[in-house]
Amino acid sequence: MRLSRQAHFNQALMRIPRRAESTDRSTLAMTFVSAGSFSAMLHSTDHQILYGRRGTGKTHALLYLSDLIERTGDVAVYVDLRTIGSADGMYTDSNLSPTIRGTHLLVDTLEAIQDELLSVAFKHETGDQNALLLGLDALAEAATAVKVVGEVEQETTLGGSAESGVGLELSVSPNAKVSATRRRSATAESRLRRTGIERHHVVFGPLSRALRGITSALGSVRLWLLLDEWSSIPLDLQPLLADLLRRSVLPTAGITVKIATIERRSRFSQPSLSRDYVGIEVGADAASAVSLDDFMIFDNVRSRAQEFFGQLFYNHASARLSTMIYEPPSNPDSFIEATFHRNSFPELVRAAEGVPRDAINIAALAAQHARDELIGLPDVRRAARDWYLRDKQTAINANEPARQMLRLLIDEVVGRRRSRTFLLDQLDARHETIDELCDARLLHVLRRGIADPKSPGTLYDGFAIDYGCYVDLHFRPRDRGGWLNSPKGVPPDEFSRAREAINLAKLE
Ligand SMILES: Nc1ncnc2c1ncn2[C@@H]1O[C@H](COP(=O)(O)OP(=O)(O)O)[C@@H](O)[C@H]1O
Ligand SMILES: [Mg+2]
Repeated sequence: MRLSRQAHFNQALMRIPRRAESTDRSTLAMTFVSAGSFSAMLHSTDHQILYGRRGTGKTHALLYLSDLIERTGDVAVYVDLRTIGSADGMYTDSNLSPTIRGTHLLVDTLEAIQDELLSVAFKHETGDQNALLLGLDALAEAATAVKVVGEVEQETTLGGSAESGVGLELSVSPNAKVSATRRRSATAESRLRRTGIERHHVVFGPLSRALRGITSALGSVRLWLLLDEWSSIPLDLQPLLADLLRRSVLPTAGITVKIATIERRSRFSQPSLSRDYVGIEVGADAASAVSLDDFMIFDNVRSRAQEFFGQLFYNHASARLSTMIYEPPSNPDSFIEATFHRNSFPELVRAAEGVPRDAINIAALAAQHARDELIGLPDVRRAARDWYLRDKQTAINANEPARQMLRLLIDEVVGRRRSRTFLLDQLDARHETIDELCDARLLHVLRRGIADPKSPGTLYDGFAIDYGCYVDLHFRPRDRGGWLNSPKGVPPDEFSRAREAINLAKLE
């Protein structure tokens, strides 16, 4: 049976890949939509940490960037940190000491980079080919010399070989507080052991030299190191890898590093006993933070969000439709018009809450419900509900405090106040559970640091409750916080921040 044009459009929506890594780079380059100035910001040569919750488009952005880089003649090395090393979960094996796990992680990462660079070197003639291959040999050699060294070695070498002081110390236990002077005495050392504090440092050896060899072989060609899925590395090892990067890779002229990760699951630095910190201090000189979550908050001008998602669906669907019998519509507007009933696309955008993967999943479910008809409002609502139950809610099923908190917030904000947005004093907003709910995309940050002229010492954060939480209700919560993400961001005169803010302690 030959499918109707409508059914084809719906199928195109259903077939959009949910994860960027399952699509080839040239398609990704074609389908990418830049939210505001995001793309320009990403293409800067600064080292950057790219934060974003699940599905916000981190992988797509990095792979799009790698295409851009290659087209300008530079070299891009993309490494998915989930795939390095063996698959036996060694980095998380609690039977192994951090020295062993850390050393393996560092060496495996360097080898993955070396491997990737080698295939680039063979694919394109870049810079001085011979020198590059020699530099890569040196890198492989240097990688084997990198190791994480435990406390005992550190203590015994403390007096003499200060030149191995390329190393660092780091307390693995987060509540470790030992003064540097105490460290020097033997009694202190045994005390350290008794309290189970372990300190480690990384020995880099000739790594920096090897990297300089590579960049000088590349000449004017810049090397872009794109590290994806940083959050898949065990938290206690992250500062070690970060330190390796900060002290050997980041200072090397001609290399730019971009790291994509989920903020809540990242630890780039830790306090150190002998220095201020170990790892990368995000936001400071070494690397700046870019948040995709922030870019995905579209100023209230609703149409801006609709424009972004309209383009996104059009790009992805066109990439599918071109392999189908029907010509794709010629622009986003006509595609949306040909696929959605009048009010249902804005509703889909609302339901997506700024997260592309959620938008794609909800659209696919809605298209499935609609079959060979235009997608209607009930299709979108049902799809959003299904997606909420299937994905978002299950993510906190095992987390009792988060479930409890969400329930109280929905009752108060949606139930009592009939609103979808609310304010929290920043002291409350730093609450672990609030963070977890944001990470699970059940709450969304609209704006941070809202000042109160009546009490200048207090700052508030503005949040929205996820669409899925109230889609089933027979009323639509008011957008009392419409001012929260309007370009000016000023509340109406009669609005009292102190009165309106939710007090979490009272809530519980
Ligand atoms: N800016 C964008 N333009 C087009 N598609 C996007 C964009 N951001 C995300 N997507 C799509 O959304 C889905 C999720 O993106 P992905 O990069 O896999 O998310 P993340 O790595 O942050 O979990 C993918 O299908 C991707 O193609
Ligand atoms: Mg990803």
